Amino acid sequence: MSDGPTATKHVVTGDVVSMKDHRTGKTFDYPVLDGSVGPAVVDIRKFYADTGYFTYDPGYTSTGSCESAITYIDGDEGVLLYRGYPIEELAEQSDFMEVCYLLLEGELPDTAQYKQFLNNITYHTMLHEQLQYFYRGFRRDAHPMAVMVGVVGALSAFYHDSTDISDPRQRMIASHRLIAKMPTIAAMAYKYSLGQPFIYPRNDLSFAENFLHMTFATPCEDYKIRRSVARAMDRIFILHADHEQNASTSTVRLAGSSGANPFACIAAGIASLWGPAHGGANEAVLNMLGEIGSKDNISEFIKRAKDKDDPFRLMGFGHRVYKNYDPRAAVLRQSCHEVLEELGVQHEPLLDLAMELERIALEDDYFVNRKLFPNVDFYSGIILRAMGFPTSMFTVLFAVARTVGWIAQWREMIEDPEQKIGRPRQLYTGHPKRAYAPFDKRS
Ligand code: SDX
Repeated sequence: MSDGPTATKHVVTGDVVSMKDHRTGKTFDYPVLDGSVGPAVVDIRKFYADTGYFTYDPGYTSTGSCESAITYIDGDEGVLLYRGYPIEELAEQSDFMEVCYLLLEGELPDTAQYKQFLNNITYHTMLHEQLQYFYRGFRRDAHPMAVMVGVVGALSAFYHDSTDISDPRQRMIASHRLIAKMPTIAAMAYKYSLGQPFIYPRNDLSFAENFLHMTFATPCEDYKIRRSVARAMDRIFILHADHEQNASTSTVRLAGSSGANPFACIAAGIASLWGPAHGGANEAVLNMLGEIGSKDNISEFIKRAKDKDDPFRLMGFGHRVYKNYDPRAAVLRQSCHEVLEELGVQHEPLLDLAMELERIALEDDYFVNRKLFPNVDFYSGIILRAMGFPTSMFTVLFAVARTVGWIAQWREMIEDPEQKIGRPRQLYTGHPKRAYAPFDKRS
């Protein structure tokens, strides 16, 4: 396995964007850089040195933090490409291990490469036996995302031989270890919450089958893996694998830019993903649907979602980039019907409620005018609940899938010669310099 492709180089177009400072009358030209598809960028790396101004962009709505060749999103058209391949085609025709290879290596594998990659992941799924004792420090009712942050961060205490980020071979081993061990750690978090014994990984099962087996099997009897459920699990992993420079990926990149080891960086990504505005939204959607309860209450909650004085938001709706239907939500919406039918729960009231909520919201001017469509989190929770996962595990599954994306982005950053430690500046609005005052001189 090579050390993965670096981002394809941008094109210096020769075009510039001129900015006139009306305070000084000076004009500054900044080069326009073209990528392969999507918006060009204005290279403002010299902006502060030239003008003495910082740029200001809270939430980075107009800021490109890096150059990347991994994932492309066209938010207006609802397009998502992994290394150029449409997410709908990968979800339909590929499998998660092949998608992992594609995200890491930049190309679809040939048969030999696929088998070798499968081997590399399969033979890293076991944890160091002592890691199980970390779980005992948690209460049984600890949120599994808290366990994930703790145990994944602790991996760097066990795998010293893959923490030297300057060594491509160690970067590759750490990548395999993290992708392979996340499902084991996640399943153990679930088992621990139940007080059930941990189930070891099995090398004769696929990635998704192995995860389902470690999660739902017990030592007392054989666990029958339903092929349709395993296929749905694998598809959910594909849909959540990567998504450009989202909050958790940017967290991983920023942590990695200081030279922190990959295990610590992924733990930071897990922490960021946990937020309800990000990966925690799938759990929040199920909690919201439970709170809404019945179709009769939908209009009241739509009203609350529009009320600026009410903190309630329609969870699973809206997206910083997609101003069209999230293509992942479209695939999951279809999978919802298929999986629920195969599981014999096609009359799941929550699905009926979700579809009615979607119908009403998509006809409401507030949502239409703001281009608020269902996102990846709107339907995923309904499938996961039907598959037997508690809502507290939904974001954990998101983290299991997104680990390959975080790792691919982390490696691309490490290998990018233009990257340096991330260190944003600020618009300071605090006190100007003032002298210390002893107690008796304070007003
Ligand atoms: C993920 O970045 C990624 O790629 C993330 C992700 C990935 O794969 O990594 O796609 C995964 O995180 C999906 C998003 C999951 N989050 C939710 O479903 C939570 C609910 N959604 C919102 O919190 C919100 O839509 C965000 C956080 C997703 C996006 O917020 P933005 O881009 O900062 O948009 P905004 O808050 O500026 O909203 C614009 C307007 C505002 O109204 P006005 O001030 O214009 O009147 O839309 C409103 C917002 O109040 N709005 C909503 C809303 N989302 C936005 N109003 C009600 N309900 C909502 N869900």
